[in-house]
Amino acid sequence: MIPRFKDARDVFFERRFGMFVHWGLYAIPAWHEQILWRGKVKRKEYEQLIREFNPTRFDPDAWLDLAEAAGMQYICFTTKHHDGFCMWNTKHTEYNVMNTPYGKDILGMLAEACHRRNFPLSLYYSCPDWHHPNYPNQGRHHEMFGPRPGDDPDIEKYYDFVKKQIEELCTNYGNIYQLFWDVNVAEYYEPSINEWIRSMQPGILINDRGPGKGDYNTPERHVPEGGVFSKPTEACQSLGRESWGYRDNEDYYTNKFIMQSIDKILAMGGNYLLNVGPKADGTITSENVEALQSIGSWYNRVKEAFEGTVPATDMIHQDVMTTAGSNQVIQRDQVLITRKANTLYVHLYRDPQTQSILLKPLDVLPKRAVLLNNGRELEAQVDLMPVYWKERPYLRILGLPANEMSGEVMVVKLEFDESVCE
Ligand code: GLC
Repeated sequence: MIPRFKDARDVFFERRFGMFVHWGLYAIPAWHEQILWRGKVKRKEYEQLIREFNPTRFDPDAWLDLAEAAGMQYICFTTKHHDGFCMWNTKHTEYNVMNTPYGKDILGMLAEACHRRNFPLSLYYSCPDWHHPNYPNQGRHHEMFGPRPGDDPDIEKYYDFVKKQIEELCTNYGNIYQLFWDVNVAEYYEPSINEWIRSMQPGILINDRGPGKGDYNTPERHVPEGGVFSKPTEACQSLGRESWGYRDNEDYYTNKFIMQSIDKILAMGGNYLLNVGPKADGTITSENVEALQSIGSWYNRVKEAFEGTVPATDMIHQDVMTTAGSNQVIQRDQVLITRKANTLYVHLYRDPQTQSILLKPLDVLPKRAVLLNNGRELEAQVDLMPVYWKERPYLRILGLPANEMSGEVMVVKLEFDESVCE
């Protein structure tokens, strides 16, 4: 079992699915949120975008409607990405949203909507800063190639600025659910900062990419397969393959790929933060809206297999190709299992090969087997299979509509009378 915090932070284990939003000036060139670093654009040129940013169609409730309808339980917003541009009314740099033609406190508007709807708000904050004169840009990864004339690289002074900004974020915007620090390139460690944040925001969860150890891990994009996470984990993934910020001609993942990824991470006991990059006008693209609608429709139908469950894949043995004498055992479907009391959930997070699954070594019939995707009952048998003729009968679930459901991850609920689970 993944260790619990045993305090208010344990709400982390209940909020399994969140919306990540990458939004800032970079939505205007619409190439990648790190266009300054990866796109070799000059800082002077990029910083002119502040004169253009005018998201007149920004409506935080529209974002939250979409997130809620998809079954998401919190939102994490980029207050300041690596470019250093701040999406709130900060007193500590001019490089912020109040100095755009829009001139409104975007974070304030989002926070107001979140608190009014009782929807938890998390804040992303980048450690590197490509604008602030005190950040020591040395051309390491996620950094500019050196100081500009007039800069005064000094990590201590920079963190004084960071602390002032964090203080604004932690005191002016109500309850903050999580702080998502990003890439501690300068490897500046000062654990007292996280502790001080906790004093301003009791119960806040802080991730592992900042100046202190943090509460939970944040693997990104493609997470290796395995049984169970050993630490609290929130994996993140973007709907777009190439960028987190809005990108013209983005290459979007298929809904199925994202469902498989969500299913895998959640069944391993992790949480999932799924990213959208709104356009410069503040709207979320129709491609993203449609994707979130169909992923959300699936999520809402199967979510009881995640919420309140624990990973239990170790209850079954999955054969990989073996040759025992002349007896060849072919790799069968790899599934993941979650459990809630005497109920097991079987996650077909990879495309099934056939219309049935065999759950070795289980050999007890469930009182009911239901495909959560459509609520239909499935047939279960305990059979001696020819391939396991030297062993014993095992539980099989039959009649999966694998062809009809090829666009979704199927999740089967098995209710047992007594504990097959201990
Ligand atoms: C990576 C990207 C960064 C993005 C982050 C989200 O670190 O480089 O741009 O904000 O992932 O986790």
